Amino acid sequence: MAPPVVAPLFDQHGRPLEYLRLAVTDRCNLRCFYCMPEEGINYMPKHDLLSYEEMLRITGLLATLGVRKVRLTGGEPFVRRDLVPFMERLAQLPGIDDLSLTTNGVLTAPYVPALARMGVKAVNLSLDTLDRARFASITRRDELPRVLETFHALLDAGIQVKINTVVMAGQNIADLIPLADLSRSLPVDVRFIEEMPFNGGSHEAGPASLPWHHVRIRQHLEEHFGELTPVVTAAGATAADYSIAGHQGRVGIIAAYSRTFCGTCNRLRLTAEGGIKTCLYDQGVLDVRALLRSGKDDEQIAAALAAAFRFRAANGFEAERQRPLHQLSFESMATIGG
Ligand code: 5AD
Ligand code: SF4
Repeated sequence: MAPPVVAPLFDQHGRPLEYLRLAVTDRCNLRCFYCMPEEGINYMPKHDLLSYEEMLRITGLLATLGVRKVRLTGGEPFVRRDLVPFMERLAQLPGIDDLSLTTNGVLTAPYVPALARMGVKAVNLSLDTLDRARFASITRRDELPRVLETFHALLDAGIQVKINTVVMAGQNIADLIPLADLSRSLPVDVRFIEEMPFNGGSHEAGPASLPWHHVRIRQHLEEHFGELTPVVTAAGATAADYSIAGHQGRVGIIAAYSRTFCGTCNRLRLTAEGGIKTCLYDQGVLDVRALLRSGKDDEQIAAALAAAFRFRAANGFEAERQRPLHQLSFESMATIGG
């Protein structure tokens, strides 16, 4: 197939559109306490979720606007049926040259060979502890062994692994050093994410209202490993990456709550029910499902996508202020896709 005609899109703040985070489901087989209540969230009825055909159509249109990198998220992507054949089709979309996914690793191990075959080079694995009891208490499921199986299967297949660890006061602070230490003997990157409050919480973001903010996480790592050396990262990266002398992999810190990275943000999100978010902190700025299902043509949908991206907020604080007042409490990460 001929490559698509790409008209690269920039927002009003000069940031390019390059990267799509695509939530394929809002369902998950874990119940991480910072993401969902024990009983789960009210999942969308199936017909409210975008079909794979609809996702392929939107991704194809976004590729004509500059998107070349796609990351599948959820919920847990592998909870959705027939994910692998869908990924194979995504990987073949003209213009998409980087396909990856974020997974909790519970169901993933058997699919690792298929991921390698379709050219997936890197997988983000969510893992908050290496301790089985603490894993069971944080996720409310005793699944650490299967996650570790996935971890080793990915390494064996030569797929780059980035571990994502949410840093939670009073929960997994004792795990930060053992997790970071994985980067010593293995070629894995370990990234620590500031915990975001999803149930109301403080809206005065900043170090003062978050006990384990990015500065403190760095200090904690340096107390153990000595000075962390900053590594230059690609534009658009959310993690501040550091190398540690003698380690094969890197450590990174993602200031998801302090929002230090908005200036180079190159991404948009498509939620499982077909909402476009141009910022993690906005409430959804375009209902693509409605456009798709009311029979709009490609040109109309592409124009709506472009307009949504062009006029997005300057940063996560502005996006948060623009939410309708009654929506100031955030939805679960399982509906946003991280
Ligand atoms: N704060 C920070 N990160 C979160 N994630 C889920 N909920 C939160 C939260 N409240 C992370 C997951 C996963 C990624 C998709 O988002 O652990 O790594
Ligand atoms: Fe599932 Fe990820 Fe939410 Fe945990 S954080 S419940 S793994 S979607």
